Amino acid sequence: MKTTTDFINMKKENDKIIMLTAYDYPSAKLAENAGVEILLVGDSLGMVVLGYDSTVPVTMEDMIHHGKATRRGAKDTFLVVDMPFGSYHGSMDTTLSNAIRLFQETNAQALKIEGADEVIEVIRLLSRTGIPVVAHLGLLPQSASVSGYKVQGKTAQAAQKLIEDAKKCEAAGAIMVVLECIPYQLAKTITDALTIPVIGIGAGAETDGQVLVFHDTVTYGSHHMPKFVKAFAEAGKEITNGLTQYVDEVKSGQFPAVAHRFTMKDEEFQQLYG
Ligand code: KIV
Ligand code: NA
Repeated sequence: MKTTTDFINMKKENDKIIMLTAYDYPSAKLAENAGVEILLVGDSLGMVVLGYDSTVPVTMEDMIHHGKATRRGAKDTFLVVDMPFGSYHGSMDTTLSNAIRLFQETNAQALKIEGADEVIEVIRLLSRTGIPVVAHLGLLPQSASVSGYKVQGKTAQAAQKLIEDAKKCEAAGAIMVVLECIPYQLAKTITDALTIPVIGIGAGAETDGQVLVFHDTVTYGSHHMPKFVKAFAEAGKEITNGLTQYVDEVKSGQFPAVAHRFTMKDEEFQQLYG
């Protein structure tokens, strides 16, 4: 398993860091086998696999449930788990006990939290406690109903704040920063300004690494594909074809065939039921 130090060295050597979300055992296993270096149990699971309209309804229990399954599928991959909405916004006591619980129960290598401002103190507290923190800046899905679900950092002022925020995250002890949906020039500036790795999503090619949502990457059940996503496979189409064929073959009597059935000797059958 790669370590925080490995990721810092990868940044120095311009060896791109590969992060991908995973929410369960099979996706974690597939991603680990494909060479993904960091698995993120993102709270995007609320939308992607639980069918909510945002990440806001996601609970600690949801994150623990999916975090444990993901861990079981990828025992040798650096695992980051998102702290869900509200779990790090109350008192520092509650924040710390939620973080400890999530970190321990999922056996993660790090937790990720969104934002700067008040969140800087949270980064400091968790880091001092021994919980590595991945910061998340730019588009913040948990607070998008306030800040908007759109590209961030497009004015000089907003860009300057993002640069300062990223530096504050690093100073507070963050081991990595995720930048979501910001102009690539700004992402490059932030990447150059930090010692810790910067992982981008919708932030151009000049960050130290990339992260995407598993289901977007392979087009599996994903609804809306944002501009920054590339579909590397058509899993949804393959699954639809397979399932349609299953329905057709059972209806038509083609499945199960002789090859799929179990047999007992006729005379034994006669003895039992004849
Ligand atoms: O929850 C998530 O999937 C994320 C990534 C988009 C970075 O936070
Ligand atoms: Na997230």
